[in-house]
Amino acid sequence: MLLQHSSWPEVEAYLARSRGIVIPIGSTEQHGPNGLIGTDALCPELIARRAAETVDMLIGPTFNVGMAAHHMGFAGTMTLRPSTMIAALHDWVSSLAHHGFERIYFFNGHGGNIATIKAAFSEIAGDPVLSEATDRRGPVRCKVVNWWDFEPVTNLCRDLYGASHGYHATPSEVAVTRFALPQAIKNVEMSPKIAPLGRYSDAVSYRAQFPDGRIGSDPSLATPQDGEKLVELSAAGLAGDYLAFLAE
Ligand code: NI
Repeated sequence: MLLQHSSWPEVEAYLARSRGIVIPIGSTEQHGPNGLIGTDALCPELIARRAAETVDMLIGPTFNVGMAAHHMGFAGTMTLRPSTMIAALHDWVSSLAHHGFERIYFFNGHGGNIATIKAAFSEIAGDPVLSEATDRRGPVRCKVVNWWDFEPVTNLCRDLYGASHGYHATPSEVAVTRFALPQAIKNVEMSPKIAPLGRYSDAVSYRAQFPDGRIGSDPSLATPQDGEKLVELSAAGLAGDYLAFLAE
């Protein structure tokens, strides 16, 4: 069930049987020569939609601009300051809690968001309105999980790509978008085949170290078929983990 496609009476009826919601959260940032700018938001969004076909789960709007300051050397990247993102996450959770939601599961697609999401959770935990029960709900609890965190997903990435998986603009995330959005597939030859590894401190050093945006990856290995397998495995992981979170 998608919040954006629901009416308020449908949401009210949902709240009578469940207090949980999944918020896909990602980023709008460069993903190398063949990866979509929206990759990190699209992956958790479409995996969550797949999971919602198998269990009773409400999917909220995707939080689709995150912490991407180090990608700002590449055209199209958008970023939030950490303070803006923390404030926005606090407001999203407060809005949902107002209506009775008490389990907010953030399904993440961007490693660079994690520190800021955790900081937002600390603020939310310290909010006396959210941390205490009201006549409409119990205390609000939040959780964040990355779409690749589930063991079968990690294992498949290792088996499919080995040392070509890398850390940014990976073949796994590109495969997921190639499966979901075949019309947006871009065939680009990678040079070098596997991108370099290294360290960066800001957007300028990132671009200098990783001229085409990739880190350690060969996303030309991505196929829609493998993307479908990754979506299925991650959706199954999400469905189980979400239900366990509701039952805690
Ligand atoms: Ni990514």
